Amino acid sequence: MDATYLQQFLSHSARSATRSEIRELLKLLSRPEVISLGGGLPSPELFPIDELADLLPRVLHEHGSVALQYGPTEGDAGLIQELIRFMAEDGVPGLGPERVLVVSASQQALDLCARVFLSPNDTVVCDLPSYIGALGAFSACGARLAGVPMDEEGTRTDVLEQRLVELRHGGIRPKLVYTIPDFQNPAGVTLSARRRHDLLAIAREFDLLVIEDSPYRRLRYVGENPPSLASLDRDGRVVSLFTFSKMLFPGLRLGWIVAAPEIVTRLVTAKQSVDLCTSALSQVLAREYLRTGALEPLLARMRACYAVKRAAFLAALAREIDPALGVRWTRPEGGMFLWMMLPPQMDARRLLERSLAENVAFVTGSSFHCDGSGKNTLRLNFSYPTLDQIDTAVGRLARAIASVAGERIDVDELPPIRPPVVSGEYSLDQLSLTLALTEVVV
Ligand SMILES: Cc1ncc(COP(=O)(O)O)c(C=O)c1O
Repeated sequence: MDATYLQQFLSHSARSATRSEIRELLKLLSRPEVISLGGGLPSPELFPIDELADLLPRVLHEHGSVALQYGPTEGDAGLIQELIRFMAEDGVPGLGPERVLVVSASQQALDLCARVFLSPNDTVVCDLPSYIGALGAFSACGARLAGVPMDEEGTRTDVLEQRLVELRHGGIRPKLVYTIPDFQNPAGVTLSARRRHDLLAIAREFDLLVIEDSPYRRLRYVGENPPSLASLDRDGRVVSLFTFSKMLFPGLRLGWIVAAPEIVTRLVTAKQSVDLCTSALSQVLAREYLRTGALEPLLARMRACYAVKRAAFLAALAREIDPALGVRWTRPEGGMFLWMMLPPQMDARRLLERSLAENVAFVTGSSFHCDGSGKNTLRLNFSYPTLDQIDTAVGRLARAIASVAGERIDVDELPPIRPPVVSGEYSLDQLSLTLALTEVVV
């Protein structure tokens, strides 16, 4: 069917998700010699293939009639018990099963939250920058996004408060604050304990729900975790999202939501029309895996591997990038990403072109900014490349940075990808640029 003819049948949100003119970059990216620092992918050598090869036949023989069947929308009761135990070990004791919903990983949790809480023109407050998949899910429901800047302690809660007052004066009452408190995607920073308390106090004052999205919490390499927002929640306004994607493997497509029972009930109803239930095979496999006690040793292996990669990445950046260029980057204590800030006059898209010519890919930062800012920023992933690739890629990136710094191009002269938006709809055009660049941006 002709694409133009198809337009008349498309929904509003599908119509706004148009493709960008980045075919040239795409051609470059498909070359095997390109080292990708773009995705948020786990390192495949950490997948517990041997353990699963033993476990899977047992799951089929002993639990096949459940694992291959439809299951309850809420999730497998045995898995929920394991998740309750897991949450108790992380400061959330005594959860009842009515507070847990098993989902097809966190992206579905975000979609369900968007469906349940957001009507067109509702406002969500999020970080500048924030996770692309969440911005996309909220925007698909017609929500407006209001951004709040971050610093090394995470969300600037003082600015958040100011912003909420301003919005209130303008007659806008946001419903949700979306936060990734642990090793934020994309910035790599962690919300400090003090700011977690501040955030919850502000949510109470302005009557907001808080969505805590925490895929990386168990991947800490330095220091200690502050308490989760779920553990600090006293009035049932926190909806916490967790996933096995980064702790076990993303192909499982399995995660869970912890929330007040009334919220879980609404999410269950929404999930029924999305996928009826999460894959029973994934759930039974995860349940039995957790019961073997293999998850903690696996997490220890992951932390050991990523700690070395993180250190190698930071060391390579310090070695390769000329301090005189004024480039800065975050030093994440966990997770999978570093955030790089180029001097304000340098454009990360220009750097991407240069960098792809050197066979290194990354995701430009403006895609993560709901207000179109962050032109001079980029996200770098350190979990997926090998140590050799990290050394090579950072050396090439440093060369690309030096060459762009030498160009003295005025960023305002570069062709715009899209007009900037201020607290408006997140442009799916921008999202598709990033998606097309790295296939799946997680
Ligand atoms: C902050 C955040 N939320 C949600 C997701 C989605 O993860 P999944 O659907 O694999 O659980 C990701 C993936 O990287 C993420 O970084």
